[in-house]
Parts: sequence; structure tokens; C-alpha cells
Amino acid sequence: MTNNQKLKDWVKQMAELCQPDSIHWCDGSEEENRNILDLCVKNGQFKPLKKRENSYWVVSDPSDVARVEKRTFICSGNKEDAGPTNNWMDPNEMKSILNGLFNGCMKGRTMYVIPFSMGPLGSKISHIGVELSDSPYVVTNMRIMTRMGQKVLDILGDGDFVKAAHTVGYPLDNGKKDIDWPCNDTKYIVHFPDDKEIWSYGSGYGGNALLGKKCFALRIASVLAREQGWLAEHMLILGVTPPGGEKKYIAAAFPSACGKTNLAMLTPSLPGWKVETVGDDIAWMKFGEDGRMYAINPENGFFGVAPGTSMKTNANAMLSMTKNSIFTNVAYTDDGDVWWEGMTEEKPSHLIDWHKNDWTPKSTQPSAHPNSRFTAPASQCPVIDPAWEDPKGVPISAFLFGGRRASFVPLITEAYDWNHGVFMGSSCSSEMTAAAAGTVGKLRHDPFAMLPFCGYNMADYFNHWINIGKTHDVSKLPKIFYVNWFRKDENGKFMWPGFGDNIRAIKWVIDRVNGTAGAVDTPIGRIPIADEFDRSDLKLSQDNFKKLFEVDKEQGITELNEMREYYKMFGEKLPKELAAEVDKAEERYKNS
Ligand code: OXD
Ligand code: MN
Repeated sequence: MTNNQKLKDWVKQMAELCQPDSIHWCDGSEEENRNILDLCVKNGQFKPLKKRENSYWVVSDPSDVARVEKRTFICSGNKEDAGPTNNWMDPNEMKSILNGLFNGCMKGRTMYVIPFSMGPLGSKISHIGVELSDSPYVVTNMRIMTRMGQKVLDILGDGDFVKAAHTVGYPLDNGKKDIDWPCNDTKYIVHFPDDKEIWSYGSGYGGNALLGKKCFALRIASVLAREQGWLAEHMLILGVTPPGGEKKYIAAAFPSACGKTNLAMLTPSLPGWKVETVGDDIAWMKFGEDGRMYAINPENGFFGVAPGTSMKTNANAMLSMTKNSIFTNVAYTDDGDVWWEGMTEEKPSHLIDWHKNDWTPKSTQPSAHPNSRFTAPASQCPVIDPAWEDPKGVPISAFLFGGRRASFVPLITEAYDWNHGVFMGSSCSSEMTAAAAGTVGKLRHDPFAMLPFCGYNMADYFNHWINIGKTHDVSKLPKIFYVNWFRKDENGKFMWPGFGDNIRAIKWVIDRVNGTAGAVDTPIGRIPIADEFDRSDLKLSQDNFKKLFEVDKEQGITELNEMREYYKMFGEKLPKELAAEVDKAEERYKNS
């Protein structure tokens, strides 16, 4: 319970609007969780898994399977503050639409009040939110993905919190019966950055509904971060310990479904190297008194893409989800377990697919949706970093940016300086995946992997990054690198083995941070000296290795011109430092 009057008033006001049959304040206890899970099983939404303790199989409505970027809005008072990469609507106009939609939206349902902390309880870097939701699925997932319940209210006291209202938009009025996955064809995922409020209507899936994740920890938090001088980023955080060496932490930004979870939990192929996970998706970073940047993972669990995850590609993720996990839109096996494409080499002879139809290896459609997910507690990860809940955060030594690029972009390049690194971040682009509704395979710019997640004008965001370099001792800031695990040869085959071998690129990062490896200057950035890059026991010909780092002059200049075109959308707001970086790179190409 709480004495927070603002919270009590808001819950009352929202209950009057949404008209639920009852209100349940979540205390986060085991008993409460048990009751909600039992309810989900009883109403047919969840199926318990025989093979995994306290774990469940759920499938969504086929129309509600990914984040809906077209229906995601940043409703700042000024349109310009949302910028050219976000959908915008006047906040008053949007509030009136939402008030209409939310009116009576929870009839026949329970409104759950979910107090949650993004970040370790009580950490100075953490922030508190409260989600109101009519979806028990959301409650069970939020309990894994955030620190949730009474302990959060105790810390909140009478302080401020982010308001996050969610409804599936499927009221049970006039005798309407519930269905397994209620949702609505009309969807709105709305952020009011001026008021730090989130309203989500019509979807029960992932980032649309678990409002602590993308909506709060990225879109609203990026606004807070800019106001308060810190960073809220779409980055994994990992700790790397070389054999006999000192541990360093790295944060890395890649667009959705580009292997962040795999990199965060990587099993190194190099003997003696250790990788430990702090987080797999989001990093909040503030400056310590020593001038270094300290990161926390604001989340408490993993909401990972299931297909392609296996004991070979990511054993640690597989071991994280052996119990207390929820699986959404994967396939269900005859012996009461889950399966997805890529989990095992041999396909099961029979499954119930994510449409709840029979499936056999002869079926033409995949058994699991490409954006099917596992929700698993981070604490169950066998390589969770001992400092993952340290309220101080972990000191970051390097940033990696990247994307899925079949051609041109080398395996790894180091930025010449901070501004060049910011340019690299702004130039992230990737072939699209299934994590967002859209055309899979098409190349899209995804600056800092924040395109769908930046809560304000992207040009102001670039400027925020540039300013960090101006206002802090750059020698203490993380070094910046760009990586691409996905380069293909002329036959369309991946040139780099990826996965555990990515430690080789990370090793170079660590060596550069420690000043123990040299580099070759190229127009695009610094690349490793071939002989210094650890290729021991790697089946990769000298020729292919060279090709992985090839920088084609003509394509380089074409890409720079394309960047100039891309930057035009930001108009006058584009930091002049970034335009200058394009010119500098062009000069380097001309002189090469
Ligand atoms: C995610 C995403 O779910 O980026 O992490 O889409
Ligand atoms: Mn993500």
C-alpha cells in the first residue's frame, strides 16, 4: 500500500475513466504471482510446460506480434521536439482521442496497478514507474522484466513516478466473452515527454505493452537523460576478463534482432577469456565522481528473440530459461516443451505451431513466429555479472555500434575521436528484421539503434552526444568502435563465423583500450593490424580475412553522399560537427 497521494489520485482518476470491475494493487509476492498465473492457465491463455518448472506457453493474436512503429507517437508540446523520425500529434488532440478510447476500456476486467523500478532498487541511477494494465499477461511479464511490487512503493514514498497506462482495448461489456489474446485493431503507443507519461492502447505484445522497456527505459528515459546530462541507450552491457587480465565493461548498440542477446552472453572461443552479462538490451549511464561513465541495466529480465537461439548459438540464454519463464509465439512440443526454428538441428516430427495448428517438418510455414520471444529472469543467467545489480553501475571502457550489413562495412573499425564516434553512431544502418512490423531485409538507417526509441528530436539527440564530448574529459570517455558481423562474400555466404568468435574483435577492443595493440588508419576509421588480430584456431583464409576489412573507395564516397542526403532531414538542427565528419571522411577517401 502507499500514502503517495499523486499515485492514489491518478489510480482513482484512471479507474473512473477505464471502469474496471476491480482494482488490484500488485505487491509482487510469490503468492500473488501464483494466483495470476493460475488465473491465466484457467482462462486458457497460458499452458504450463511439463519440461520447465513454473514456465508457460502463450500465443498471441496473429495480428499482434511486434512493436507497431507506425502507431507509436511522441506527443511533445512542440512538433519540432519530436523531430523528423517520430510520429507526432498535438498532445491535447491525442489526449482527447485516448480519453475516448480509454473510456470504459476495462469493463469486465481487473485493473492491475504495477509499481516498478527500472534499475536496482534504490540505485541513484534507477527510476520508478507505475503501469496500470488490464492484462494479467503483462503483470506476469513485468514481474520478470522489472523489480515490481510493494518494495517499489516503499522506496517511492511520496516521490514522483512515470505514469504508464495500458489497456488491451477489449472491454467485456454487454455479456461479451473473453478470448485467449484480447487486443484491438486500433493501436496507439503514445508518449507525452513533457509530462513523462505513457498511454498504450490495443496491443498486448512486448514493447507495446510492457511499458517499462522501450516506452519508459528508452523513449521517456532518453528525454530525462538529455534534461539531466546522462545517457539512456539501446545497448547491451558486458564484462570481459582476459586471461590473467583486468576486467573491462563494454556497451554495444545494435538494431533489434541483430544479436545483442547473443553478444551479451557470448561463450568465448578464445581460451581463458571470460564474458559476463550485465544487460542485453538497455543501458542507463551516468557520470561518476571520477569522470567515468557508469552503466546499469534498468531491466530485471530478458525478453529475447527465440528463433535461432540454441545451445550452440547462445547456451547461456538457453540455460537462463529453464524455469520461471514465459514463451510467447513459439511452438509447443508433444512432450510439453517449447521449440523454435534453430533450437535443434533435427526438427521435431510434430508440434503445435504458434497459430495453434498441427505442424510437421513438411509444413511450409515456420512453427514459431520470427519475433517469438522468451521472457526469463536475468538472475538465472549462468554468466550474470556479479556487479549486475550494483547500484553504482559498472564503468564503461568502450562503446560498440553496429548493424546488419551484407557489404562494405568492415568487421571492426575504431573511431578517430569522440566526434567521429558520434558520427559512426549516427550512421548505423541495418537490414530490417522481424522485431518491428515492416519489410524484412530492407536497409534502413537506425542511428545509434535508437530510431524507434528516441523520445525527442534525433538531431537534438546527436547534439546531446556531441555535447558529452565537449563537457567531459574525453580521455575518460569510452572509446568508440563500429562492428559488422554480417558481411557476405560474392556467393552470399557470411564471411565471419560470429557468435563465440566475436570475442576476437572484443579482444582487439580491449587491447586498444589498454593501448597494447596498434591500428591501421583507413578512410572509414582505424582497423586492426592483420598480424595482431587473434586468428588462432580460426578457419579463415588470409584472403577472406583481408576481405573482411576491405574499404572500397567508390562505395565509401557513395555512402558518404548518402549520409549527406540522410542528414538533410534534420535541417538546421544537425550538429555542424557531424556535417564536418562527413567532409573529413571524404577528404580521407580522396587522399587514400
Ligand atoms: C527488443 C527490440 O525487443 O529491440 O529488444 O525490438
Ligand atoms: Mn531492443
